Amino acid sequence: MKRSKGVGDVQILESTAENPSKIEKWHSDMTFRDTPPMATVLHGKVIPEFGGDTLFASMYAAYEALSEPMRELLDGLVAVHDFRHGFAESLAEPGGAARLADAVAANPPVQHPLVRTHPESGRKALYVSPLFTTRIKGLAPAESRALLEFLYSHMVTEEFTVRLNWQPETIAIWDNRCTQHKPVNDFFPQHRLLHRVTVAGDRPPLSTAVRSMRGVELRPLSGALGAEVLGLDVTRLDAGGTAWLHEALLEHQLLAIRGQQLEPGSFSAFAGLLGKREVYPIQPADTRRPVRGANRKGAG
Ligand SMILES: [Fe+2]
Repeated sequence: MKRSKGVGDVQILESTAENPSKIEKWHSDMTFRDTPPMATVLHGKVIPEFGGDTLFASMYAAYEALSEPMRELLDGLVAVHDFRHGFAESLAEPGGAARLADAVAANPPVQHPLVRTHPESGRKALYVSPLFTTRIKGLAPAESRALLEFLYSHMVTEEFTVRLNWQPETIAIWDNRCTQHKPVNDFFPQHRLLHRVTVAGDRPPLSTAVRSMRGVELRPLSGALGAEVLGLDVTRLDAGGTAWLHEALLEHQLLAIRGQQLEPGSFSAFAGLLGKREVYPIQPADTRRPVRGANRKGAG
């Protein structure tokens, strides 16, 4: 499929017998990005006499049809999405890797919640796709493959889908946060040309993994636990930053934040962000000298 630059934000998607579309798998658009588009708007310009429909599936319907224990399991999971997975065929073409080198470099793998809560409707939707999802974080490879395979077949159950037949000048708008779609490439050698605009979206919030925070980096201290927090000023934590820190602690168990010059009052206020402060039950009698016995045991 040709993807030449159109006018302004309008991208031209053109499929011909010589340059057929290569995308055939179900997906939500561009989930390989941190902030995938909220909506896609397509305008049919050159439409084949037959074929070329687009299938859509409701990820609300797919999620809501699952049993409660399965929904509970999925709610806590995070999946990895990768540009290279979606464009593997193009990358494998002669010269493909060189042509797409910039795009690969600009789109490292990202993590999204496996179940996405829609920021406007509040409803939950499955948010993994065979086109872009490579694995479920934290599961053994065989577990991840099996669960994804189940979800990929479940989420396109016919009752959750609709088939859109294009006509010239049809505009289709879809919400990428709660749907997936699949092109049906059954119209060759006919010619098809669509115009596309994508509408910017939010970052899907991670509820059980550490969401990223602008300018702040977590660097593991060991393979088992612990992370160093780089780029954080603890005196400037707002509610979102505090939630981030709490999640980072849950994930890493131990955090080291260096270079924080704080008076005891500010330090105590910072600690208070994590929860109710309490007085340590064993106090060294004199903190200016090394403590002994039980006191020493209690310190640190
Ligand atoms: Fe798409």
